[in-house]
Amino acid sequence: MKPINVGLLGIGTVGGGVWTVLLRNEEEIQRRAGRAIRITTVADKDLERARRVTAGKARLTVDAFEVVRDPDIDIVVELIGGTTVAKALILAAIAAGKHVVTANKALLATHGNEIFAAAQGKDVMVAFEAAVAGGIPIIKALREGLTANRIEWIAGIINGTSNFILSEMRDKGLAFGEVLREAQARGYAEADPTFDIEGIDAAHKLTILSAIAFGIPMQFDKAYTEGISGLTREDIRYAEQLGYRIKLVGITKKTAEGIELRVHPTLIPARRLIANVEGVMNAVLVHGDAVGSTLYYGAGAGAFPTASSVVADLVDVTRLHTADPEHRVPHLAFQPDRLVATRILPMEEVTTSYYLRMQVLDRPGVLADITRIFADLSISIEAVVQREPAEGEDQVDLILLTHQTREKHINAAIERIEALPVVSGKITRIRIEELGKN
Ligand code: HSE
Repeated sequence: MKPINVGLLGIGTVGGGVWTVLLRNEEEIQRRAGRAIRITTVADKDLERARRVTAGKARLTVDAFEVVRDPDIDIVVELIGGTTVAKALILAAIAAGKHVVTANKALLATHGNEIFAAAQGKDVMVAFEAAVAGGIPIIKALREGLTANRIEWIAGIINGTSNFILSEMRDKGLAFGEVLREAQARGYAEADPTFDIEGIDAAHKLTILSAIAFGIPMQFDKAYTEGISGLTREDIRYAEQLGYRIKLVGITKKTAEGIELRVHPTLIPARRLIANVEGVMNAVLVHGDAVGSTLYYGAGAGAFPTASSVVADLVDVTRLHTADPEHRVPHLAFQPDRLVATRILPMEEVTTSYYLRMQVLDRPGVLADITRIFADLSISIEAVVQREPAEGEDQVDLILLTHQTREKHINAAIERIEALPVVSGKITRIRIEELGKN
């Protein structure tokens, strides 16, 4: 059969990985795909870099639009990133009747509905395994492997940079800022690390997982996002003493009232496998009604792991290239006309448990004042720990763990406790997830 011609947009870290993996495993990939897959054209603004990587084996251009309109190209691989030029290129490729493979989570989370509708209209595929958790085939697992299940919830460590920072803070007892600088020096964190450390990158990926899990449109604007920049080493240490690890977790859960879609620092029992995912690694825990819990672990970034997902998509698209569009796996796992815009719950309506740390005066009656507020709001306390005051100090750290309650009740409790004269400063609030059966 005639080879499949690929146009590669962007030959940076991931693009270079795709080029290398396709060549290195050419023979096996051809045996699996049933025909050769070759990158015939590369668009990159740095032609020197493109020349170095491709060594004269592909046509090079600085004009990516020329590639998406080229009638000889069957599949366009978009690895430019961002939500402006990349969006225009993908829509132009679709309009020209080409299949698209992309790793662009920000674009899909924010404009995915429009892009998939356009692809549907032109009977082309948009494949995006590399957009979530790098090399972990989580899209394939959710969309196909778990298709028998009602997915109940997903919890993922889906940002390697923040997981590296939290691992280092716990291991070495370092402060957030110190580790961030180390992560930047090692090239894990960007010069502007906002997307990684403030949970935005994780929320992009979670939005995609949630859409596939529950058959809903992409709704990134409704995701609750809280990052790790406010975490202290004290909280990490206290959590550890209580049997928990703090991780930046993306959680999406289907409840009777709607769907939870939230990224925030989370206490997870240290005995859970996912709590032991360290460094830049990613893991996604999926709970289905039939299968129970399944855990997917691997590299969430990097040239070759991400290339592994991009090339898998290329093989998938190559195999289905000539298939009747009706027989393809739908972009969001559910048939496009069967997506339901289930309500995303505002954070105030989410139910979970809480770790609260506050500074209080070490004197009789203080605990009683605080626990009365919880009782009035029907919040049940699971544990109370008071640390020894430092020499000559009358202020102590008081840590409370609550049972499950609505976030709005905890917000009300925090406001009332912070107003007590015996409590100084702000209360630190971190959510707890058991990640057991329910
Ligand atoms: N910046 C991401 C991370 C990798 O730190 O996990 C790409 O999504």
